[in-house]
Amino acid sequence: MMRTHLTSALETALIGSTVELCGWVAKRRDHGGVVFIDLRDAGGVVQVVVDPSKVVGVDPHLIRSEFVLRVVGVVKDRPEGTIKSDTANGAIEVAVDSVEILAACDALPIPVDEEVAADESLRLKYRYLDLRGRRLQGNLRLRARVNHLLRQAFDEREFIEVETPLLIASTPEGARDFVVPSRLTPGSFYALPQSPQLFKQLLMVGGLDRYFQIARCLRDEDPRADRQFEFTQLDMEMSFVDSDDVMDLVGEIVASVIRDVTQESADNPGRMTWADAMATYGTEKPDLRFDLPISNVTSVFSATEFRAFQADSVGALRIPESGELTRARLDSLIERAQSLGAPGLVWIRVREGSLIDSPVAKFLSEEEKSALLTKTNAQPGDLILLAAGSLAMTSEVLGVIRKEFCVVTKDLGLHTIWVTDFPLFEGLDDKGNPISSHHPFTAPHPDDLDLFMHAEGEDLLSVRSQAYDLVVNGWELGSGSVRIHSREIQERVFSLLGISPELAHARFGFLLEAFRYGAPPHAGFAFGIDRLVALLAGEDNIREVIAFPKTQSGADPLTNAPSLLEGSQLKSLGLSLAAKKKESRS
Ligand code: AMO
Repeated sequence: MMRTHLTSALETALIGSTVELCGWVAKRRDHGGVVFIDLRDAGGVVQVVVDPSKVVGVDPHLIRSEFVLRVVGVVKDRPEGTIKSDTANGAIEVAVDSVEILAACDALPIPVDEEVAADESLRLKYRYLDLRGRRLQGNLRLRARVNHLLRQAFDEREFIEVETPLLIASTPEGARDFVVPSRLTPGSFYALPQSPQLFKQLLMVGGLDRYFQIARCLRDEDPRADRQFEFTQLDMEMSFVDSDDVMDLVGEIVASVIRDVTQESADNPGRMTWADAMATYGTEKPDLRFDLPISNVTSVFSATEFRAFQADSVGALRIPESGELTRARLDSLIERAQSLGAPGLVWIRVREGSLIDSPVAKFLSEEEKSALLTKTNAQPGDLILLAAGSLAMTSEVLGVIRKEFCVVTKDLGLHTIWVTDFPLFEGLDDKGNPISSHHPFTAPHPDDLDLFMHAEGEDLLSVRSQAYDLVVNGWELGSGSVRIHSREIQERVFSLLGISPELAHARFGFLLEAFRYGAPPHAGFAFGIDRLVALLAGEDNIREVIAFPKTQSGADPLTNAPSLLEGSQLKSLGLSLAAKKKESRS
């Protein structure tokens, strides 16, 4: 060891002892006499004082920012008046006897550990410098801790960690595959896994019973704040269980990780059906940090003479204490609603004595006004916003408007909820075939099995599934489902999706075949570790919790990936570039 201590281990009990430290020059104050250096290592920072008249080794005036030093010195208490009570080592400093420069540092292309936001591609090009800062150091340590806690939790519950292959045939998770050309079978390609989905189901057929994996997944979809090409899932699967068993177990583990990391209380996630989430929050990813539910007030206006409210559905959003919003703000909300497809948005200011102030007040009867105030539980000073039309449209519009009133602050904590009973299909494609809401291995809801087996077209859209999502602060943390383990049902799903028996056989024949040999009932779940760590770290972008992420355009400015291949490499893979591409590249 080149050192005796990390800076974090220095404490007043060591005053008078000689210590050896290694680290980077975080800050330096050099006025020609004694040089003060903030020495940073993996533990933190400590002030070291170098007196040129006493020190041996090098001339301390030559030391610059981010030089790597080894110092030997004596721990002292800081002189009265220079104690920094806001930093961990603020009561001590190290009076240096000898300094060794282990490495010099050129002029820095980006600042290290400062709150200055450097350009994103520069930060990624010099990621190793960015990693020296407290923010990324903290985030990566947190990530390691979360991985450790998850491994421990699954291990304690007798889950077996199994690694599934990276070079596979395509898995249908809804995104594009990254593909890898095969050298030994020219013209053939592997796909990189979008998730271990099919393998974990095969592990259940293989009798593994309880599987988990911290799995790297790859999806060729446009990166954004909560999406990267490469990401990590905590992936799990269990046999002989139902959806409640999976939700209880995963919910308990996620809550315990939140408690452990935040040191605050966290309950196991509650439950809400997809239909309720859509009706109450206008989204399948409700952000429950804010208690601003949408009320369905259709019945209030069932006999209304006001044409705009003679609709399938009328939704109301009561916003407490916002009755004095300016006309300009109200107009911008109306424009926002119209841009989302609503014919309009009605506002009502609630006054004392059950009076209201609204451009439509004269079109509403006294009974309607009073029923609306009761149903929305409105108080004087509140604002009510109403949208009328189809239930799907009013919910979506009010859901988006609701978010505009949710002011996010870091102290609101993490609010988890299970959203259950998703529709099996999310719509029809242009050929009239339904589109899976999750993946095609999700089992239909037992109460809708008959409908699933016999319905066609639009009717299929009312079939619910046994899929569940875990939503945290408006982010989809993860999703899972009870799987189909019957060949007959799986084949019907494929045929409804327009996947011919030949194609189903070619792509998933191995799964269908496995189901012939005693497949146990099974269910599972996967959540994004990048997303969980970002939520725990209070980061808005998962990039900040990934050591070497890609830019918004999917590039890595550090290694210059993606890059061209040598002609000989292409040749050995049996590949040639299309002529047009060749020209533009050359
Ligand atoms: P799903 O596709 O919903 O389900 O993915 C599960 C979770 O993985 C995370 N995730 C991502 N994180 C970062 N970048 C991405 N591009 C990205 N894509 C997904 C999310 C998401 O909720 N096999 C199923 C799970 C199952 O049914 O068991 C699956 O992969 O947090």
